[in-house]
Amino acid sequence: MTKNITIIEGDGIGPEVTRQSVLVLDAIAETFGHEFTYTYCLMGADAIDKTGNPLPDETIESCLNSDAILFGAIGHPKYDNDPSAKVRPEQGLLKLRKSLQLFANIRPVTTYPALHHLSPLKTKNIEDVDFIIFRELTGGIYFGKKEVNAEATQASDDCVYTREEIERVSHLAFQSARTRRKKLTLVDKANVLETSRLWRKVVQEISGQYPDVKVDFLFVDNAAMQIILNPRQFDVILTENMFGDILSDEASVISGSLGLLPSASVGKGNALFEPIHGSYPQATGKDIANPLGSILSAAMLLEHFGLVKEAALVREAVEWTLQNSFVTKDIDPVNFYFTSTIGELIIDYVAGKVPGSLKKENIELRKSTII
Ligand code: IPM
Ligand code: MN
Repeated sequence: MTKNITIIEGDGIGPEVTRQSVLVLDAIAETFGHEFTYTYCLMGADAIDKTGNPLPDETIESCLNSDAILFGAIGHPKYDNDPSAKVRPEQGLLKLRKSLQLFANIRPVTTYPALHHLSPLKTKNIEDVDFIIFRELTGGIYFGKKEVNAEATQASDDCVYTREEIERVSHLAFQSARTRRKKLTLVDKANVLETSRLWRKVVQEISGQYPDVKVDFLFVDNAAMQIILNPRQFDVILTENMFGDILSDEASVISGSLGLLPSASVGKGNALFEPIHGSYPQATGKDIANPLGSILSAAMLLEHFGLVKEAALVREAVEWTLQNSFVTKDIDPVNFYFTSTIGELIIDYVAGKVPGSLKKENIELRKSTII
């Protein structure tokens, strides 16, 4: 299979984690006889520094003309602490989502037995947790009219949803539920918000087309609590843009590290794959960031190409590193391996060099221990 992938490394740790994913994709191509070519593009703070624009036109062009997009991370502290900045890195990502009509963001939440001890939640409550969040990505308060008055004493953000916007992401969520445990939970705030009441109405109507899927409804405040109290109850969570943003960060603590969670954004055409973590500026360039969120996003990308065996091998390699405590600093702050070492180990595994032929002592040499 021959595919062209647009790579947007982005800001902070984006480049270093994405580099590992590209190397893993190369190893997969080599092992399975595929050919992946890459076009590198700018977005975010990096793009503002180099071009003045958080999303140069060439980036949109390249995304539209490639088979998939792999993205690293976005954001820089110099903008976070400056609410008056006119141009912001995040505008690049939001505009890209809108331009490519990536209306559904899919965030799977799984747990790894080797990491149970890292979760702030009790092991008995997180065993076998396996759910997936479908977050609407191109509507709602993120994209409504934004206003601030001349004196800057009042500001507003409109939250708007159309029936069609709700329907298209809901169908994807129902279809996913069908392939899983056949349960869908709509998270909204229908006791207060008009948009939420429209979501509830539309989802109730659509559910008639999926009689095999059991639907329930939760207010977002209760959902935030239930994700911590009893996450095993969820199968597919469907929700609007901002609720999905907040709940998916919350859900990441179940796995033990935000650094582990991948995501896929799909829509009318091309799909984009990115870890859910941010640009983690404090770690930039130190080779300590966790590359697994990005590598697992690359696995979702392979699956999107229909390369199911290839994706499964990447996931197996990731699990192998975790089981053998080959982990980055976020997971073990004392005995940890570098970002690039984890990448190398996964590549070795994909190429069939471990566990048999790779000597544990050689791996130990790549370890960093803080005494
Ligand atoms: C995410 C991020 C983005 C969002 C930011 C960077 C605009 O937090 O992908 O979850 O809020 O959607
Ligand atoms: Mn977010």
